[in-house]
Amino acid sequence: MSEVVKLEIDGKVIELPVVIGTENEKGIDIKTLRAQTGYITIDPGYKNTGSCFSSITYLDGENGILQYRGYPIEQLAEKADFLEVAYLLIYGNLPSKKEFDLFKSSITRHTLVHEDMKRFLEAYPFNAHPMGVLSSMVCSLSTFYPESQNPNRAKEAIDMTMHRLIAKLPTLAAWAYKNKMRHPFMYPQNDKSYCENFLYMMFAMPSEEYKIDPVVVNALNTLLILHADHEQNCSASTVRIVGSSQANLYSSIAGGISALWGPLHGGANQAVIEMLDQIMADGGDMEKWVAKAKDKDDPFRLMGFGHRVYKNFDPRARIIKKACDDVLDKLGINDPTLELAKKLEKVALEDEYFVQRGLYPNVDFYSGIIYKALNIPSEMFTVMFALGRLPGWIAQWKEMVENGDPIGRPRQIYTGETKRDYIPLEKR
Ligand code: CMC
Repeated sequence: MSEVVKLEIDGKVIELPVVIGTENEKGIDIKTLRAQTGYITIDPGYKNTGSCFSSITYLDGENGILQYRGYPIEQLAEKADFLEVAYLLIYGNLPSKKEFDLFKSSITRHTLVHEDMKRFLEAYPFNAHPMGVLSSMVCSLSTFYPESQNPNRAKEAIDMTMHRLIAKLPTLAAWAYKNKMRHPFMYPQNDKSYCENFLYMMFAMPSEEYKIDPVVVNALNTLLILHADHEQNCSASTVRIVGSSQANLYSSIAGGISALWGPLHGGANQAVIEMLDQIMADGGDMEKWVAKAKDKDDPFRLMGFGHRVYKNFDPRARIIKKACDDVLDKLGINDPTLELAKKLEKVALEDEYFVQRGLYPNVDFYSGIIYKALNIPSEMFTVMFALGRLPGWIAQWKEMVENGDPIGRPRQIYTGETKRDYIPLEKR
């Protein structure tokens, strides 16, 4: 294997180093390209551009492989606890029993949010989308912890910020929902596990006892693990780029939540359920909707289909599809949306348009159906994604800081007007 590639530009041959990852992924290091030739590369949407070196998540889109710190997603989803996975992503290894106990107790101790934060919540309109609320509440946390704005803090202080965020996000997420319902806020109960506590804060009422169903807890734990990281996706890249200016962790994560909200990214889970409801209300003619998705003059896309990186199958979608059957079965739910989703998947997978383009169901296609079975309203689906993705965002931010990555600042090819002189208003 050659360690450099040769590139001929304007008759001059330059050599660029090749970089190879631990799973044999290959890249061309173009750091000196502009200095040597005056050229930059152009790659809108970064379809072919590596933005960093990372040892957090390995993803092979052609073969449907996803590993966190080397551990296959299938094993983690089946066997691990979400907080264990959070520790793994952030600190690089699975925790020992002692490390895990310390981590859990640190998270548990910080689940409360400052009472003044509740005043912000009350000021949002009743129909505010919870993702908008979550993003701004997370950014607001930075004003309650101003020391987080110092980029040169001790490791212990940074750890504390990371733990606070993991601890408080379920509280803020559940409160965003309670606020929307105009129901009383439920305070966290620290004898409960991470997932139990979130469900309690979401669904309990002060007026009656709330029994937490272990089937629901397990399903939530699996979903959060499946969402926990996905290397350099839109929101993780946003977190890294915001953080690269040395903006504090809370603001960086708030940026990630905003990026996740869009329907092409995490917002797809809400869009899938809305699409399935629309197809059902329209009579369930699958061929008609698949034809619409293929029509380039129609903006409609099959939500929950396609992925920038997976062109064969999304391993998360496989696990979720099975979990979906299990959960509905265990909870005794017969949801026609699941049948419709399966039929739609079958029609699309047999269609040449989808086959040729490698468009398969992604993680969001079935996750909404499970969330619905867990009684989570559709506007909260992307919030659930954010809860799961938080450790990944934190790990990406931490790695970016520790690697000393430079500020993110792409270049461009300018296509506007060339120099022209100002004309006074009265002469225009
Ligand atoms: N329905 C119909 N056509 C599609 C779809 C779809 N869902 N997705 C892609 N295509 C077509 C697209 O029109 C293009 O066709 P052509 O080559 O003829 O121009 C081709 O497939 C390639 O698509 P692309 O938009 O260039 O691919 P991308 O990598 O830029 O976009 C995507 C990836 C996920 C944004 C896109 O597949 C999409 O919009 N999917 C629907 C939204 C969705 O489910 N998003 C969740 C992604 S998974 C969760 C997460 O991690 O964010």
